Amino acid sequence: MCDLDDGGRLALGIVLATVLCAAVPGSAQSPTGLGRSATPAEIGAWGAIIGPNGEGLPEGHATAAEGKALYERHCARCHGVSGTEGPDDRLVGGRGTLASDQPQKTVGSYWPTATTLWDYVNRAMPFDQPGLLTSDEVYGVVAYVLHLNDIIGEHDPIDETTLPAVEMPNRGGFVPDPRPDTGDSAGPQP
Ligand code: HEC
Repeated sequence: MCDLDDGGRLALGIVLATVLCAAVPGSAQSPTGLGRSATPAEIGAWGAIIGPNGEGLPEGHATAAEGKALYERHCARCHGVSGTEGPDDRLVGGRGTLASDQPQKTVGSYWPTATTLWDYVNRAMPFDQPGLLTSDEVYGVVAYVLHLNDIIGEHDPIDETTLPAVEMPNRGGFVPDPRPDTGDSAGPQP
């Protein structure tokens, strides 16, 4: 027999299920429906975004020779004195290995533009103290990492006009995405 108590519990269950479903209106949508786009002000707070052609690079100047001590002080403990020992990402060597059985993804083997390296180091490194380095210091450690990869000379002047002209070994390894741009922030869809 179905007494009042059972009926009450059943009704409560239905109410709870209704409330829970109503609380997650996006549950039927794809994950890309979550959140919102960052505003220009929020993006601006993270600093200038440097384009591949160097647009947005601040004035500054350094050579690899000047960057060596900075690299050893701020970077070597995680990337190794020669950029190959780790413990974190290997930055040096591996050129020509990407299509091999043992690909090594490094600045020298993979990165298409030196300006992106400047942007990344400026924004994100040292990993535990991002924003620590001045613009000149970022030019210095970037020049040193490029020099360790045999891409530039020890005394080549690196600044906002010479850096975009640096030819990265894997520049030709990147091709434009031929798929149509859907306007979605997630980029072209397959
Ligand atoms: C506390 C450890 C630490 C320090 C110090 C540090 N890094 Fe890193 N670095 C990392 C980690 C961890 C990653 C990988 C981050 C990721 O994958 O999101 C990384 C990634 C990188 C990369 C990208 C490598 C690639 O090709 O994937 C570069 C370039 C880099 N660091 C340069 C530097 C430079 C230059 C300095 C000094 C100014 C520095 N790092 C200091 C930990 C560190």
